[in-house]
Parts: sequence; C-alpha cells; structure tokens
Amino acid sequence: MSEPSRVRGRIQRAPENFLSDADIREVAAGRRDFLRKSFLAAGAAVAGGAGVARASEGDPNILNLPEHSKILGRPVAERAYGVPSQYEQGLRRRESPGLTRVQAASVSFAPLQGLFGIITPSGLHFERHHQGWHDIDPSKHRLMINGLVKNPKVFTMDELMRLPSVSRIHFIECGANTGMEWGNVAVPTVQYTHGMLSCSEFTGVPLSVLLEECGFDKKAGKFVLAEGADGSSMTRTIPMDRALDDVLVAWGQNGEMLRPENGYPLRLVVPGVQGVSWVKWLRRIEVGDQPWATKDEAIHYIDLMPDGLHRQYTSIQECKSVITTPSGGQLLLDKGFHNISGLAWSGRGKITRVDVSTDGGRNWRTARLETPVLSKALTRFNIDWVWDGSPAILQSRAIDETGYVQPGYGQLRQVRGTRSIYHNNAIQSWKLAESGEVSNVQIL
Ligand code: MTE
Repeated sequence: MSEPSRVRGRIQRAPENFLSDADIREVAAGRRDFLRKSFLAAGAAVAGGAGVARASEGDPNILNLPEHSKILGRPVAERAYGVPSQYEQGLRRRESPGLTRVQAASVSFAPLQGLFGIITPSGLHFERHHQGWHDIDPSKHRLMINGLVKNPKVFTMDELMRLPSVSRIHFIECGANTGMEWGNVAVPTVQYTHGMLSCSEFTGVPLSVLLEECGFDKKAGKFVLAEGADGSSMTRTIPMDRALDDVLVAWGQNGEMLRPENGYPLRLVVPGVQGVSWVKWLRRIEVGDQPWATKDEAIHYIDLMPDGLHRQYTSIQECKSVITTPSGGQLLLDKGFHNISGLAWSGRGKITRVDVSTDGGRNWRTARLETPVLSKALTRFNIDWVWDGSPAILQSRAIDETGYVQPGYGQLRQVRGTRSIYHNNAIQSWKLAESGEVSNVQIL
C-alpha cells in the first residue's frame, strides 16, 4: 500500500511573497527552541561532575545561585493583565503572506506546534475575518430574534447574561483548514497546514432557551439564520434540530469575555460544525421554513466535486488528526526517545482511538488519549517512540465514536478530487530525514 518511496510531495517554499527559510525556522521553533537549549544544557550537566565544569561559558551552573535568587523580584500587579514571558515571543498567530489581498479579509493561524493540552490560549486563537474585526461596545450591542416567532425580541447584553448559562469545551475549525493542500504539499509547517483550528471553553445561553422564550413556530420553523454585525453580511442557515441541540449564544471564552477578534461581545457556538457558522458579533437570529442559500452558502463554503458539481451545506467537520510535534520545520536533536504528540477531533462526537505510524502507514500503533476526552472537542494524544536515526514518515489516523476512520489522501481524492478548498481531513504525513529535519509530504 503506501510506502515511503511513494512520497509525492516536496516542500514548495520560497516563491516571492511566500515564506522565507528564516520565517519557516521561526514558525517551527516556537517552544522547541527552548527545549533545544535546555536539552543541551541538561546534557552537559548530566555528563558527570566534569560535565558541569565543561558547560560552556554563559550556561547556567546549578551550583551557583543565579542573580534572581538573591534580589527582590518585581511587584505584584505590575502587569494588571498578565502576558507571556519575554522568552515565548516566537509563539504567535501568523498570517500566510500573499494568501489574501486584503489583511482585513484574511486568516491568522494558531501555532499548534507550540501548544500543550487541548485549550488554545485566547490570544493565540486563530482568526478568520471576511471584513475585519471590531471592538464593539457591549452596552450598545443588541441581539434580535425574529421571523417565525410569536414574540420577536431584542435582547441587551445584560438581559442575555442574566439567563442561566452553561460552559462547554469545543473545537472550532474553519472549513478551509488544510485547504491549501488539496492538490499537493503547499505549506511547510503545522501552523499553516492545520492552524485554522482552536479549542476553548465557551460560556453562554443555549440558543434553544432564547427560541423558546420568543415562542418559535414549532411546526413551520425548520431553520434559523444567524447574522453578524460586521460589514461582511455573514449569514448562515442552521437546521432547527441542530439549533435546539447544543448551539450556544456565547459571550465567554476561557473564563473571560470573548476577545474582540473572536466576536466580542457575542458569537454563535455551533459544536462540530465548520467555523463559518460560528457567526461572530452576532446581532440577529431569524426563524424560517427553508434554507436561505446566502452568498456564504451558495458561492463560498461549498465543495467542488470531481464531476464539476458543487456540494452545498456540508457543514460537519469530519474526524481528523495531526501530529503537532515533531512536525514540519522542526529538528530532532538526536536519535533515541521522542514523545510524538498531536491532536484529534471529530464534529460527530468523541475520539475513540488514534493510531500512529512511523513508517508511512505500513505499521500502526495505538496512541494514548489524554483526558479529558470530550465530544466535539480537541483530544490530545501521545505515544512514546525511540528513533533509530533512519528516515521515517510520521502519520496519525483518528477514529471517532461513530466508527468513522480518517481517510488517506488517496481515499479522499477518489471521492473529492483535488480542486476543492473545504473539508480536507486527510491523514497528514511528516517526513523525518536522517539529519533530524522534519518536512511536509503527502502519501497516497
Ligand atoms: N462571523 C462574522 N460576523 N464575520 C466573519 O467574517 N468568519 C467566520 C466565522 N464567523 C466570520 C464570522 C469564519 S469563516 C470562521 S472560520 C470563524 O468565524 C472564525 O472564528 P475565529 O475568528 O474566532 O477563529
């Protein structure tokens, strides 16, 4: 079946206005740079007493107290709102240069290669705006519910936030995530292949509570339309059974109010469904009896099939996974023990298993799923690996509670062709060279 010799892709780097080699190194480093330094220092120290003495000048010597152990530190509340360490500046959202013509209608990718666990820090949550973001005054923001309802209402934020709220952890993935890779390898790092993905604890009121409150028409009301308050006329149809299931009208993200870039003060949370339906700066919900087929449902966010037809309303993000470390652009320092770590998720429920291959899909081992394993949330997996120093192809394959198995590129392309943009959930392959360098490749 798939053998390393059948690797098709090569990194296509460096055309003008794409990423430079220096960019790629910076993106890939993230926290790995820190690991690299501490690994080298520890290596020197454990090489016996002489090792400590041999540590190069400037290396921390554990026998000497550092300056900061002898003086007063900085005062509390010097930073009324905490920020990451100065040594973590490499870990940030990034735009893919040249991806879009206007920065207000663009994407910033989350640095998956440097994150731990399953929660995305709010400041690193990916952004996708069609017409830029706004920091809207919550005292002036309103949510209207109209259409097939007995009592159309306009809610203030205060009125919404008085209602009984729930908090739930869910992933959000843009339908276009991994979209650049449909034809062949296009980008070098996991930040760009999979970084339109984040996971947060969202807090809000179930949409079902608001619909009940407004007395929606239970017979004729088959769909809702969600509308945002930005200039993009972002409107999405959501079937009523889903709207009544687990959809939230949310104001909270990871214990605080939503960030402006992510929809402050109000956004829709539609678990398991592609990001475009998670309407930000939510201002209106209309109840209707048929889908609206708006521009973002009829022209965009549709799947171009091999026969030239388009599939519409394919909203669910199917089961998918990716190894985040080691991943494209990173460097393994040496052979020996390595922890292979990654993320798995499914729009249809919980992840039940993740298998990992280090030989391009010939052999698979089952990874550990770290708790919590939640429905429609990211799941962290880890597996121990001893690298013998020879070339390897690393892959992960996730299975969800419906029994769906993440497909390989060959399987996916048979059904979907190569010219689509959305809903690419193929198995990702990272090639590890003898030098320790990791690069993006595709295996059919
Ligand atoms: N809502 C509005 N009002 N305007 C937008 O441009 N972008 C959508 C969705 N909601 C968008 C929006 C898309 S395409 C995605 S993938 C998600 O928001 C991204 O959410 P995030 O920016 O919080 O990551």
